[in-house]
Amino acid sequence: MKILALAVTGRGLVEPEAPVLRADDEALLRGRAAFETLRVYRGVPFRLEQHLDRLAGSSAAIGLPPVDRAALGALAAEALAAARVPDAVLRLFWTPGPEEGPPVGLALVSPLPEQHEALRARGMRVVSLLGVRAEAPWLLPGVKSTSYAVNMAADAEAKRRGADDAVFVDTAGTVLEGPVTNVWWRRGLTLWTPSLDLGILAGVTRAALLEAAPGLGYRVEEGAFPLPVLAAAEEAFTSSSVREVMPVVELDGEPVGDGRPGPAAAALQHALRAAAVDDQVG
Ligand SMILES: Cc1ncc(COP(=O)(O)O)c(C=O)c1O
Repeated sequence: MKILALAVTGRGLVEPEAPVLRADDEALLRGRAAFETLRVYRGVPFRLEQHLDRLAGSSAAIGLPPVDRAALGALAAEALAAARVPDAVLRLFWTPGPEEGPPVGLALVSPLPEQHEALRARGMRVVSLLGVRAEAPWLLPGVKSTSYAVNMAADAEAKRRGADDAVFVDTAGTVLEGPVTNVWWRRGLTLWTPSLDLGILAGVTRAALLEAAPGLGYRVEEGAFPLPVLAAAEEAFTSSSVREVMPVVELDGEPVGDGRPGPAAAALQHALRAAAVDDQVG
């Protein structure tokens, strides 16, 4: 990943390659830090306040010092001004620092991954993998901590099996989410997506799609659904800030629906981009 711009609490803009964390930061020692990944449209991060809300929630769940929202907002603005690219990825990190503090906030801007538009046109092949159903508070349900090694290992396993991405299911076969996405599917004019009380991450994109769906003629069912229901869908897709709405055309080696990207994914992708424009024009 190329860093286009980097800003740090107490320092402001620093060189992208500058060291920014101490070796005794809890983020490194125990993976105890929170983060957010945002899509930047026309220089403006999408739904920054919602991401800061989630960052504050994640930080509280891990026992980090309270997030300094104003400081992180200012760092994000500084980094984006320095990066000077209309479309980008913005990452925000909040680490507790060393035992005696102070906490560290980072805003890091990087280019959009290049392959996403080609993948959106082709559709993703996914495989189902066992994931943790994080219901108990100490399993950190819905928390976006920097302990993402398991998620990245699942992604690597999916690629090892010749797929593009994974979908986590619990021991009972209930569909949860992807390593970095929420999961959706459609039959007729109904969309299905796993409910947040399964302990999955409350995606900001998921929330935006829930808002957009009725206007496109879709009703949404949230709940606990077994994998065969997803396998029998007419189309499927995932959602995330950076990948946006990504069609899924194959599950565990079998086509989903007709094996091509579907109309709901296309309509929601369009609606998501339109929401980003609407947010900016007020
Ligand atoms: C586990 C997990 N689920 C879902 C999502 C999608 O969330 P968002 O739409 O806020 O990017 C992410 C994003 O990183 C994630 O890591």
